[in-house]
Parts: sequence; structure tokens; C-alpha cells
Amino acid sequence: MSHAGDHAVLLLVLLASSSLISTVFGDPVLGRKAGITTSVEKARYAVIFDGGSTGSRVHVFKFDEQMDLVKIGDDIEFFAQVKPGLSAYAGEPQEAAESIAPLLEKAKGVVPKWLQKRTPLKLGATAGLRLIGEEKSGEILEAVRDLVIRKSKFQYNPKWIAILEGSQEGSYMWIALNYLLGNLGGDFSKTVGVVDLGGGSVQMAYAVSDGAAANAPVVPDGQDPYITKEYLKEKQYNLYVHSYLHYGLLAARAEILKAKNGPFSYCILGGFKGTYTYNGEEYNATAPPEGASYDKCRDVATAALNMGAYCEAKNCTFNGVWSGGGGAGQANLYVASYFYDRASQVGIVDGDAPNGKSTPAAFADAALKVCSLSVEDAKAAYPMAWDVEYLCMDLVYEYTLLVDGFGLEPTKEFTLVTKVKYGEYYVDAAWPLGDAIETLSSQPPQLHQIA
Ligand SMILES: *[C@@H]1O[C@H](CO)[C@@H](O)[C@H](O)[C@H]1NC(C)=O
Ligand SMILES: *[C@@H]1O[C@H](CO)[C@@H](O)[C@H](O)[C@H]1NC(C)=O
Repeated sequence: MSHAGDHAVLLLVLLASSSLISTVFGDPVLGRKAGITTSVEKARYAVIFDGGSTGSRVHVFKFDEQMDLVKIGDDIEFFAQVKPGLSAYAGEPQEAAESIAPLLEKAKGVVPKWLQKRTPLKLGATAGLRLIGEEKSGEILEAVRDLVIRKSKFQYNPKWIAILEGSQEGSYMWIALNYLLGNLGGDFSKTVGVVDLGGGSVQMAYAVSDGAAANAPVVPDGQDPYITKEYLKEKQYNLYVHSYLHYGLLAARAEILKAKNGPFSYCILGGFKGTYTYNGEEYNATAPPEGASYDKCRDVATAALNMGAYCEAKNCTFNGVWSGGGGAGQANLYVASYFYDRASQVGIVDGDAPNGKSTPAAFADAALKVCSLSVEDAKAAYPMAWDVEYLCMDLVYEYTLLVDGFGLEPTKEFTLVTKVKYGEYYVDAAWPLGDAIETLSSQPPQLHQIA
């Protein structure tokens, strides 16, 4: 046992009479518990706030010396959330900051006091805050920074409380997924690529060879470069990542409704009349009298992708974006977020399964079935689905994005994913974990011992 272990044993002996400790002694896995106690000094924590559009969430992750995730309490991470999100407080920055104060208190309760000043705290605000404009979001972020400084001792950096760019979200997602799959530290060709379909944007991220990275086209000033370097588990990766703004599931509905010809949308299920609101704009969303049509919806979805855009970089996906050239890091693809959600609602993947194999063709098959139904019949057939009037549109879009947008063969097998098995736990494959890993990886532990 290490010296730290001796301390732990001493502590146990000193406190042995307290009821708290006797419960610990009564635990059959005391050995393991004591083992965890000994590594406390070397444990590292990260507190990551996810400022989403519908709510604010906090994730606290704990890693051991090997950067393996370890339990916090009974779970593999600590998680708490409040609703509504920060963007609901546009123009009221103090109220916005106060809304996350309870989450900050909870995070303080989870990270040992003496480790807090070496525990990075970050807040990444996603779509919601981006949409309220720079001035209002800036005020809110400033109020949050102020709250963090006043109310906590966590490691603070003003740049860590910021709007998360889509490309960062994509890299963090790639890191989280490859971490959970145990791929980090190995050759880039063993990593998997990820397509993450959010509401506002869709991200593609995968590792490429040094040669491909060196030949990447330059992007115009002010845009994120196509390739970023990531140093993880003592290995450097060239990560191709691109975020396609306006091509997330909810944003694409607006693009598809804009692109329609005439008064009706052939992507809307029969019997539905209404409007679709996105980013403050309203779009008429009315089904034709004869109902939706898979073929006509496909045409509009393809047009919305802007396939004909000028491709300066050569080898483009859509909308003039460089594809990254493909390769081994993209051969094994994981497809996440709204892809998983819609797939599980229509039975492409079992809704109880954390992940499952599928193909683009499975989305086309499901779409063919759904588009032939009226909105009422679809509600009855797919009781788990929300926004049923858009179910044909969403499935057609997802198929079109994969096949026309990203150029996948309809029979190409990929994995739909929401969680990944990690030890005895299923862990969310989501950006906050990747953010925690990247932040801690870029801070050698030795630095932290200078307390
Ligand atoms: C939407 O379009 C349909 C078909 O042209 C029309 O009957 C309906 O009044 C429109 N709805 C709105 C809210 O504009
Ligand atoms: C474009 O694709 C061709 C053929 O796959 C490849 O040889 C070339 O390197 C690619 N160029 C870029 C910039 O991706």
C-alpha cells in the first residue's frame, strides 16, 4: 500500500467509532473502497457546464492517474440540471447567472475542497445562447464568470466560460467517443469517425494521416481550420472536423420548407396544417391534400443541401465544404444525437439499446413507410415519436445527408450511438466528457501539485 493508503487507514482508525465509518466497514467491498480512497490524492476532477437551449446541466467527472474514469458516489459521473436554459434570461444577466448557482453548489459538494483550485471549471454554451445575439450572450457569460469567481474556488479561466463553436463540439464528441471505446493512445487508423446531428448544426469529425493533414486546404480568415491537432494519451492526432451551420435537424426543416415549390410541402405528413418556427422565423408547413411523398421530399431535401455549390477545395461534401479526403479514421463511423433519436423512435434501432448497427438504407426504408401515412396514423404507429408531422421530413433528410451530403453508400454499415459501455457503466457519448479529457490532458498533473 502507498503512503496515501497509510493515511487513509489512519483516518479510518481515528474515526472508527463514528457511525459513518462503521457503515463503510459493513460494506463487503471495503477493500475496493479503501483502494479508491488511497488514490484520492492523485484523482483529478473536471466540472463541465453544458449551457444548452432547453436547460443548463453540470457534469462532474473524476479520473484516476491513468485518466480512467472512476465513480463519483454510486455513478460514473455526477450530473444535475436546471430548466430553463441561460438563453431564457436574455437581457437579465444576473438572473441567468443565479439560475446556475444551485448547480455550482452541487459541484462544490462533490469535489473535495482541497482539490477544487486544481479542478478546471468550464461552461460551454451551445445553440440557444448563440441565437440571442452577441451583446446579450456576452452579458450573460460575464455574469456567469463573476458568479464562478465569487462563489467558488475552482480553477478559473475567462476563456473557459464561452460559446462553444460547432467545430469544438465536434472534436470533443470525437474525443469522448474514442475515449470510451478505448481507442485513444493507438494509431489514428484504429479510431472511429463521428457524425453528430444537433438541432442547429451537424458535425463530422475523424482523424486523418499526417500527409492528409499537411495537404488540407486553407480556409478563409475568420473560419475554423479544417484540421486541429489533439494530444491525447501521449499520442498526437490530426483531427478533421467541420460543423455545418444550418444543417442540424431543426435548422434543416426551415431550409427544406424554404426550398419547397408552391403552397404545400411534400415532406409534411398528410392532414397536417400549421407553421414551423425556427430562430424566430415562421414557415408555412402544410401537407398537400394527397399527403406526403417520399420521392418529392427527397428532391427538396437534396436541393436544400446545396450540392452544386462551388468546391474550391476539391473533394467536397456539400455546400462547398472540403470532405477531409476520407481514409482509415472515417472507415468506422458512429452516428449520433438526432440520428439515434429518430432511428429509435421508428424502430431502426431498439430504443432500449445504447447503440446498434445500421445503414443509410434503413433510414430510406423507414422514410418510405412513414411518408405514406397520415399524421394521425403515424402517431398511432410510432407512439414514441415527437414532432410526428415532421417524421417523414426528418428521416428523408437524415438519409439524404448521409448519402448525398457525406457520400456514403446506402449499404454502408455504421453504428448509431447514444451511450457506450465503459466498465460496468453505460456512459453518454457527448461533448462534455471530451471537453473534460482534453482540458486535463493539456494540463500535466505535475503542474497541479504546485498548490
Ligand atoms: C399555408 O399554406 C396553405 C396552402 O397554401 C394555406 O391554406 C394556409 O392558409 C397557409 N397558412 C399560413 C399560416 O400562412
Ligand atoms: C481528392 O481525392 C483524390 C482521390 O481520392 C485524392 O487523391 C486527393 O488527394 C484528394 N484531395 C484532397 C485535397 O482531398
